Amino acid sequence: MTLTPTIPSPDPLPLHDRVVLVTGGAQGIGRGIAQAVLAAGGHVAIADLDREAGEACLAEWNLGTRALFVPFDVTREAQVKRGIGRVLARFGRLDGLVNNAGLAAPHVGDLASLELAQWRRFLDSHLTGTFLCSKHALPALREARGAIVNLASTRAAQSEPHTEAYAAAKGGIVAFTHALAVSEGPAVRVNAISPGWIATDAWRKPSARRAPKLSRRDHAQHPAGRVGTPEDIGELAVYLLSARAGFVTGQNLVVDGGIGKAMHYV
Ligand SMILES: NC(=O)c1ccc[n+]([C@@H]2O[C@H](COP(=O)([O-])OP(=O)(O)OC[C@H]3O[C@@H](n4cnc5c(N)ncnc54)[C@H](O)[C@@H]3O)[C@@H](O)[C@H]2O)c1
Repeated sequence: MTLTPTIPSPDPLPLHDRVVLVTGGAQGIGRGIAQAVLAAGGHVAIADLDREAGEACLAEWNLGTRALFVPFDVTREAQVKRGIGRVLARFGRLDGLVNNAGLAAPHVGDLASLELAQWRRFLDSHLTGTFLCSKHALPALREARGAIVNLASTRAAQSEPHTEAYAAAKGGIVAFTHALAVSEGPAVRVNAISPGWIATDAWRKPSARRAPKLSRRDHAQHPAGRVGTPEDIGELAVYLLSARAGFVTGQNLVVDGGIGKAMHYV
């Protein structure tokens, strides 16, 4: 037996023939992740409330049986169960789940005027949706020795005023991530990605798509020199879903162009 460490051969398709379900995958960051999975050789199922957006993805990708749109609401358990059943019926396996769906606009006004129903909508779409999809995907993920990636946010750790519901939901996702990683290891790895400012205007359905309006200052305040894109998040999601990340679990990885590390004295 030789103990010489070898140089690994390049692996251009780290998700070759793997099946990944991306919730909220028809637009924005979710679509960026879905496309990165496809580019890495995987099959993708996108779950979304927005049928127009989901059908537009299938039409624009034109990839036949490699992509599936399953319209479901991540907050409804019966729909989640049925939707994941459809993914398994089509592909016969599930290797990855990306819990990305949720109400993405964090500003809701001050706490005194925040209605309980609105608070619950944030917690439901982000945190309960992540719980329900994980719960119903886990039997198949265990069988495949797969991985879960949850979309948290830098807002789990830092805030603007009047974003309590969103921040609380994202903080919950970070905690849910390490708890589930400990419960499900070694069969299933579970990690979170915390994006910073990601420009998604160009990643909407065709009827709502537009070029992002970003100033030089918007870009310059990031040590990386620019605002982020859905591709930036897709790159990390593919890594976390693939065997390359076999020793990474329970983590929350920040992708914010370094802005959270920059000190600003006014
Ligand atoms: N864009 C950012 O700067 C940013 C930063 C940090 C974190 N995030 C997080 O990344 C994720 C995606 O954000 P985005 O900006 O791409 O959002 P987006 O609004 O552009 O896309 C979200 C998609 O999820 C779908 N969706 C919403 N609720 C759903 C539900 N209950 N069931 C099924 N589908 C549902 C929507 O129809 C939409 O297609 C969210 O979890 C968001 O909180 C975004």
